[in-house]
Amino acid sequence: MQRKGAVAAHERNMSAIIQWSDKLSLGIPEIDGQHKGLIDVINELWHAIVSRKDANYLLGILNKLEQYTFAHFTAEEAVMRVENYPRLRDHYDEHQKFIGHLKGTRAKIENGEEIALELLHFLTDWLVKHIQVSDKDYSNFIAERQRPKSIFARFFGSLRPQGARS
Ligand SMILES: [Fe+2]
Ligand SMILES: [Fe+2]
Repeated sequence: MQRKGAVAAHERNMSAIIQWSDKLSLGIPEIDGQHKGLIDVINELWHAIVSRKDANYLLGILNKLEQYTFAHFTAEEAVMRVENYPRLRDHYDEHQKFIGHLKGTRAKIENGEEIALELLHFLTDWLVKHIQVSDKDYSNFIAERQRPKSIFARFFGSLRPQGARS
């Protein structure tokens, strides 16, 4: 099945489970940059799983993914709060659901269980849908209020995952 907004790994590039495409762009470089960062770390985790790296190695990448996700979600929730975005509560709940799945993944690795690739597909599908629907909604809401472009730089800065190429 073709996944919306992203190209399945086997069709394009075996080193990635999810590829950035223009369909994922919100047109705001600071937010796009962080979404690319999330995709980079998910790909790193996928690559480690298919290369059968050990649990410690996987946990190191998962730590990075958790930290980066937390920083990104916190920035989004802060800008939505400041801008009085009316659907903040639902958006927050979606973020919590993703965090819950990352915690579940951590528990599995710590218990010595295999991480099924379906889980990685779930994370990538969640991310694609979340960006295209929910993140697009709040960024459009802010853009429609004609806020200065600097507002996004103020909240999103240029945070990159630890060890990522710029
Ligand atoms: Fe979000
Ligand atoms: Fe986001």
